[in-house]
Amino acid sequence: KTIALVTGGLSGESVISYKSAATIEKNLDREKYDVYVVDINPEGWFYTDSTGVKTTVSKDDFSIMEQDRKIRFDAVLIGMHGTPGEDGKLQGYFDMLGIPYTGCDAASSAITFNKRYAVAVARMAGIGVANSLHLFAHTPVAAATIPDRLKLPVFVKPNNGGSSIGMSKVDDAAELEVAIAKAFKEDNQVLVEEMIAGREFTVGVYRSNGMIHVLPLTEVKAHDSKSFFDFEAKYEGKSTEVTPAVVAEPVAEKIRTAAKTVYEVFNCRGVIRIDFIYNEAEDRPYMLEVNTIPGQSAASIVPQQVAAAGAKLTDFYTLLVEECF
Ligand code: DAL
Ligand code: MG
Repeated sequence: KTIALVTGGLSGESVISYKSAATIEKNLDREKYDVYVVDINPEGWFYTDSTGVKTTVSKDDFSIMEQDRKIRFDAVLIGMHGTPGEDGKLQGYFDMLGIPYTGCDAASSAITFNKRYAVAVARMAGIGVANSLHLFAHTPVAAATIPDRLKLPVFVKPNNGGSSIGMSKVDDAAELEVAIAKAFKEDNQVLVEEMIAGREFTVGVYRSNGMIHVLPLTEVKAHDSKSFFDFEAKYEGKSTEVTPAVVAEPVAEKIRTAAKTVYEVFNCRGVIRIDFIYNEAEDRPYMLEVNTIPGQSAASIVPQQVAAAGAKLTDFYTLLVEECF
């Protein structure tokens, strides 16, 4: 089969997209797949062949010309974080063209990528979520009124974003205004969320043969207790990730059950990763967010979980590709 591995993107997460795509490219089964890496970036849509010749991808049918041969793809493997690969836009485009793609469909991607909508749908399904406020750039809310509505500390995040870019933890009301302005630089919607106390766990979930499977849990520990699992912690080693997590079985089971419910309620496909905080006093996992294109870089969590499950990444990626047909 001829597969396009689509990477890059139009957000600050593109640097992570390239790392994820590199892992995927290295581990795809070459006996099964001919792989073409397509880079979608602010300059255009490109394929670069092994001799360094760069060609533009046709937006009419997502084909490329290699020498004089037109290459059409049997499927697209989306290795792109952030817009337009994780928020439903490419998914909608490939639906229009009738080209199968890996992972969640356009609607699931769009809803989960919007952190506020994701939290609302999860709450509807009985999943614990933090209290939050959804701010729009066109309807300013005075930062000074936020502590009347939410308990500090809070997390201030661009509502549509990833990898903690533009995100702050605010302990003191005086810091709110700056944190909100920073988040608005990344997005025209901002989510202000109460902090849930507890241990942070994150878990990959996928479907195979009609069954939802949960990968071994990872516990994430930020090194600096004032900080959180921010961009540096995620990608520059300033956190410790323990996979499989050392956690009592009943707690792990609660998280796994919540993870399956989330996968089901968002009608997910392929592998996703869900971030949770487990609050011990309430004995309850709280969902932070759903990542429908979880990082696959060498430092990322899902590859670690696949290894902890005793599986090979190559087989895992084959499963994800085959599921989209
Ligand atoms: N958004 C990053 C890539 C992740 O969830 O792994
Ligand atoms: Mg995320």
